[in-house]
Amino acid sequence: MKPVKVGLLGLGTVGTGVVRIVDGNQEDLSSQVGSPILIERIAVKDLDKPRDVEIDPAKITTDPWEVIRDPEIDVIVEVMGGIAGTKEYLLEALERGKHIVTANKDLMALHGAEILAKAQEKQCDVFYEASVAGGIPIIRTLIEGFSSDKIMKIMGIVNGTTNYILSKMSQEGASYDDVLKEAQELGYAESDPTSDVEGLDAARKMAILGTLGFRTNAELSDVSVKGISSVSKEDIVFAKRLGYEMKLLGIAECDNDAFSISVQPTMIRSGHPLASVGGVFNAVYVYGEAVGETMFYGAGAGAMPTATSVVADLVAVIKNLRLGVNGLKQIVPYKQKKLKDSED
Ligand code: NAP
Ligand code: HSE
Repeated sequence: MKPVKVGLLGLGTVGTGVVRIVDGNQEDLSSQVGSPILIERIAVKDLDKPRDVEIDPAKITTDPWEVIRDPEIDVIVEVMGGIAGTKEYLLEALERGKHIVTANKDLMALHGAEILAKAQEKQCDVFYEASVAGGIPIIRTLIEGFSSDKIMKIMGIVNGTTNYILSKMSQEGASYDDVLKEAQELGYAESDPTSDVEGLDAARKMAILGTLGFRTNAELSDVSVKGISSVSKEDIVFAKRLGYEMKLLGIAECDNDAFSISVQPTMIRSGHPLASVGGVFNAVYVYGEAVGETMFYGAGAGAMPTATSVVADLVAVIKNLRLGVNGLKQIVPYKQKKLKDSED
């Protein structure tokens, strides 16, 4: 069968992981989708930057529009980040009938509804599994796995960088600044790590989880946010002495269709499953009326775990392409929004 041609926007931490998995697992991936998967064009910012993967230089451009407008490209994989400009690229790609895979929670939390509406209009897929909790397939789980249930609570350690920082401060007495630098070097942090440490990245992810779990339209402005920059080593030592671990915890609750979402540093009793989530790991606890308690755990950031989710989305998009159907992800029926403690 004709190869599927992919346009990759971004070849940084995640993009490099995507190339590694698509190239390294090509035989298995192509047998799953029934044709080779070719990364045909790649957009980067700096042509001279050394890359950790071997790429034919003819495929690389500094102009994302070249990738978007290439008529040969079937699927756009967006792993470059950014909001306003990136939204324009993706809307234009959808306009041209291209399917999208993105890891961009900033974009999906702010403009997901608009992008998904355009996808529905154009009968294209937009899959965004890697936007929350890196390698944990939590988005699929909420949309498909729990479609039969009424989700009442979602608690999550959904930012790898801050969990890495808090864990190292707690376990090794390391300094905040040193561990943040380490998390940046390991590719966990956002290009501007303020969004990690001030809780914004976690808030965006919790807004996405709330939207999907409660089948509503939770927005970033609905999330109350406090980050970890004001947490001192003394706070962590004190919490530990009392038998608690300090974690940046997202809590989303829904009762009679009214929801609330918050992100804040929280002392969790040692022995609670969330207290033992260390390093870059994430965990998402989901409580459903019928299913009861469930918990999902795995690496929340980094090249290969994140790329695992991106490439799984790519495989899902291509399978849909072959079947001539679209995924369910854009057809989330939004209930009328109702915030807890709101007037109506
Ligand atoms: P990154 O390492 O900074 O890579 C970004 C890539 O995009 C780079 O290759 C960069 O080019 C390219 N780029 C940026 N702006 C561009 C522009 N205007 N035109 C063309 N190319 C452009 O970022 P990342 O960590 O891979 O993250 C990418 C996305 O995945 C973000 O949305 C992030 O939030 C999300 N994400 C990241 C992780 C993680 O663990 N890192 C996990 C989940 C989701 P150069 O290489 O030339 O600079
Ligand atoms: N900066 C993010 C984190 C990347 O640390 O969790 C994964 O979304």
